[in-house]
Amino acid sequence: MIFDTHAHYDDEAFNEDREQLLAQLAEQGIGTVTNVGSSLASTKTTLELAEKYPFMYAAVGVHPSETEELDEIWMVWLREIAARPKVVAVGEIGLDYHWEEPERELQQHWFRRQLDLAREEKLPVVIHSRDAAQDTLDIMKEEHAEEIGGVLHCFSYGVEMAREYLNMGFYLGIGGVLTFNNSRKLKEVVAYAPMDRLVLETDCPYLAPVPYRGKRNCSLYLPHVVRAVSGIKGIPEEEVIAVTEENARRLYRLA
Ligand code: NI
Repeated sequence: MIFDTHAHYDDEAFNEDREQLLAQLAEQGIGTVTNVGSSLASTKTTLELAEKYPFMYAAVGVHPSETEELDEIWMVWLREIAARPKVVAVGEIGLDYHWEEPERELQQHWFRRQLDLAREEKLPVVIHSRDAAQDTLDIMKEEHAEEIGGVLHCFSYGVEMAREYLNMGFYLGIGGVLTFNNSRKLKEVVAYAPMDRLVLETDCPYLAPVPYRGKRNCSLYLPHVVRAVSGIKGIPEEEVIAVTEENARRLYRLA
């Protein structure tokens, strides 16, 4: 069954129908979901969802754009919850230079601190990196992220960068963007990367695949991404689903 490695079902976009939607996933072929925290508040909700739904796991962490709320006291809290049984990763963490704020030094500081947390708790990391290719790679190399492992979520760089992260043992998160007309670079990355390093993700409610582009995304639309991967790799859709599920279980260290 399909494994959605990156969702935000805590998002208010799901307030109206969250329960109904999550209840349908299994019968529609979605077997497992990792919900990913992006702020302290969403990390808390993520944890509640994961503890409520057996098919859901949690990544706990603070997105680079939200790092102004972090301090060492909150890091103690993050460390405590990272030890809970349904927590499978630290994330999403990283760098986002698309916006001016928070300042880069602050983002880099909390990126490093959350990499430390993952190392201490022996958890993989979910990396968010936007318009910050070189700094992300430099920090991950300095911090020996190859010893931590994890996924580059919504991978948006080219083949050269993909090679660097694959060499560090990381997985690449592939979502709705692959179905966009203007996604030549990502299609090249998917063609280049070994099949055993790709995982599926929605990043819902964002980044819905064609033909839902611009609408609220959810795991039910992942078959459109499966079809795109299948076309590029020249393998059956069932194989895409099976291999990416296996990869996701290895990534998040689930039995
Ligand atoms: Ni996300």
